[in-house]
Amino acid sequence: MVLACLLFKKRWCLHESVARGSKKYPTSSSPSARVRENAQALEPIHSLPLNCIVCGDCAAELPKLPANCVDLIFTSPPYADARKNSYGGIHPDQFVEWFLPITAELLRVLKPTGSFVLNIKEKVVNGERHTYVIETILGMRRQGWLWTEEYIWHKRNCYPGRWPNRFRDAWERCLHFTKSRHFQMFQDAVRVPMGHWRHARLRNLSETDKRRDESKVGSGFGKKIANWIGRDLAYPTNVLHLATECSNRMHSAAFPEALPTWFIRLFTKPGDLVLDPFIGSGTTALAAAKLGRNYLGIEIKPEYCELARRAIRETLGDTLWEVSYAKHHGD
Ligand SMILES: C[S@@+](CC[C@H](N)C(=O)[O-])C[C@H]1O[C@@H](n2cnc3c(N)ncnc32)[C@H](O)[C@@H]1O
Repeated sequence: MVLACLLFKKRWCLHESVARGSKKYPTSSSPSARVRENAQALEPIHSLPLNCIVCGDCAAELPKLPANCVDLIFTSPPYADARKNSYGGIHPDQFVEWFLPITAELLRVLKPTGSFVLNIKEKVVNGERHTYVIETILGMRRQGWLWTEEYIWHKRNCYPGRWPNRFRDAWERCLHFTKSRHFQMFQDAVRVPMGHWRHARLRNLSETDKRRDESKVGSGFGKKIANWIGRDLAYPTNVLHLATECSNRMHSAAFPEALPTWFIRLFTKPGDLVLDPFIGSGTTALAAAKLGRNYLGIEIKPEYCELARRAIRETLGDTLWEVSYAKHHGD
């Protein structure tokens, strides 16, 4: 199937400027569309659109995708109606009812080895944090998702302010869901420099540092400090310290490219498929393409679809997929 996807990685999709109908993808007699029709004639799986921004409601578009075809879903849906003035949204009390049918489709399209990372935060309603995120997690577990991990995106540059009952909000959730306990994960791809502390700490090792030191509280955890001698890189924590998006991206909720980039490196390899069903200004697509991954973005607002397509074209050029794929394969 991967080969089939790669054969079909033409850029017809990116250049389609017309929003797709909700029933099936339109055909045309342009050369690029003919390539697609020929490919579809070979095998039905070729209907999987690759490296494009589909303009539509993801609740209607996701059912058109084949099952088990996506390696990573990375997305940030509307945080209920927190941005209702720019792109609408859903009342917090209705969020779970609206979102769970979408996560059911995401469960279907994700490969058994894949991951779904959901960037979200509960908004404050009537002076307290709403519970729609917690209820979403519970609902997704009932659907069959495993809530494997929770990463925290610490927003290094959040603006100062004063609220009567809380401090400034400096973090968001990146909830990691999987279909199985055995999923693909490339931990070495996100290793970080050990830091200067190691020079002083590792210079004079105690006897305890030289053997595995079991936790005194009987947790089963242990550490052997001597293992870190001679190493330059260490595994990161589950807290990501990244600045929010500062440049004017014409989208009020664009996240920094470094956020999807980190998860794409961790959970995919070149040639894999990354899906963002709420792609907004196209950040996830840009991150994926630059890393030589295939992408598929879905966005309901036509002006954001155009924004995303323009950003991709301007950043990566017309032959974006071929160029980025070749780069990451050293061809
Ligand atoms: C939080 S923003 C995502 C921003 C994006 N991460 C970026 O970096 O630009 C959510 C996006 O989902 C879109 N959206 C809302 N409902 C949708 C739906 N049912 N299907 C597809 N897109 C939707 C909104 O128009 C908005 O652009």
